[in-house]
Amino acid sequence: MEFSERIKKIQPSATLAITSRAKAMKKEGQDVVVFAAGEPDFDTPDVIKEAAVKAINAGMTKYTPVGGTVSLKEAICRKLSVENRLNYEVDQVVVSCGAKHSLFNIMQVICDPADEVLIITPYWLSYSAMVELAGGVPRLLKTSPENGFKVRPEDIGSAVNEKTKAVIINSPSNPAGVVYEQDELNKIAEVCLEKGILMISDEIYEKLIYDGKKHASVASFSDEAKASTILVNGVSKTFSMTGWRIGYIAADKDLVKKVSTIQSHSTSNPCSISQAAAECALTADIGGRLEDNRREFMGRRDFLIKLLADEDKMVPFKPEGAFYLFCDISATGLDSLEFSKRLLEEKKVAVIPGGPFGEDGYVRVSFATSLDLIEKGITRIREWIKESA
Ligand SMILES: Cc1ncc(COP(=O)(O)O)c(C=O)c1O
Repeated sequence: MEFSERIKKIQPSATLAITSRAKAMKKEGQDVVVFAAGEPDFDTPDVIKEAAVKAINAGMTKYTPVGGTVSLKEAICRKLSVENRLNYEVDQVVVSCGAKHSLFNIMQVICDPADEVLIITPYWLSYSAMVELAGGVPRLLKTSPENGFKVRPEDIGSAVNEKTKAVIINSPSNPAGVVYEQDELNKIAEVCLEKGILMISDEIYEKLIYDGKKHASVASFSDEAKASTILVNGVSKTFSMTGWRIGYIAADKDLVKKVSTIQSHSTSNPCSISQAAAECALTADIGGRLEDNRREFMGRRDFLIKLLADEDKMVPFKPEGAFYLFCDISATGLDSLEFSKRLLEEKKVAVIPGGPFGEDGYVRVSFATSLDLIEKGITRIREWIKESA
């Protein structure tokens, strides 16, 4: 069968290869410790599940408006106003099947062939695939651990050319847990406004921030910044709702209309029941529960860092957000895929190679798992490094 040039350019995800191998080994009964999860290990809060059951029983089982119900969009606008100091109207919001879908739609709407989108490394690997699938060109902006894996505004400025459409900002970030301060974002916004490019602000890990840091939304810098920002968020990570598939965009209403047009010919509305659940998540009084989850993640991060404190061949970059530990394994002499494959086969621990995230000397260790498993997995990794690397 002859496939499109578009799909032929996209590589199957290397991370999936590791995760599916780990799953297969588990199924065979092998004792595998998996540090691969991209989702919280907590269950969705009961009140949210109950709202979904209520929605089913109330017959909310039909199509909704393509871009989401008005009541969900109103809940999103309230959330953005109260928590992010951003005022959007309902017609500036469009709900999709997860933030991944929101981002995919954005690329379809803004990219013409050969248009460039700036992506700050290390980055969530789907960004580049989405840009390519839209016919665009991902342009990677390298950062370094010495700079806290943060982009320098001037590097954005010098990467912009007449083909540059946007830069993706992801704070807190996957995979390194980088959190930008408001003044750092302001400087980035200044450069983007001066150069006339859009800012796509992926804020999906907004609530998972540690060490007293505060989340900042780049759109809140000024009216001009807001007008040039496409804000993306969702319920997956904050409310442990990855399977429900609800994400959203808040942006200029013309862009929102275009995204709705795409959805009207592709997915139609996101699942009606999930929309009711998401509305509950955004309005229910569950702040205490979310805070417990955040603290639990922070405790696990600190535990992991302690376990690796005197390990010089796997050196963690301390994340200020999200739930991943990005570790420098370059001193082992192995590239990230070789490291991950061998570790899985020889010691039955699954980590995600950093290569596809733009940093081949690193692996990503998810701490969306229990303290016991963290201790067991890290003990095995350290033994393996001692024995073989
Ligand atoms: C940085 C980042 N953005 C967006 C997403 C997508 O989240 P969802 O599609 O579940 O809303 C993920 C999921 O892993 C992510 O890591």
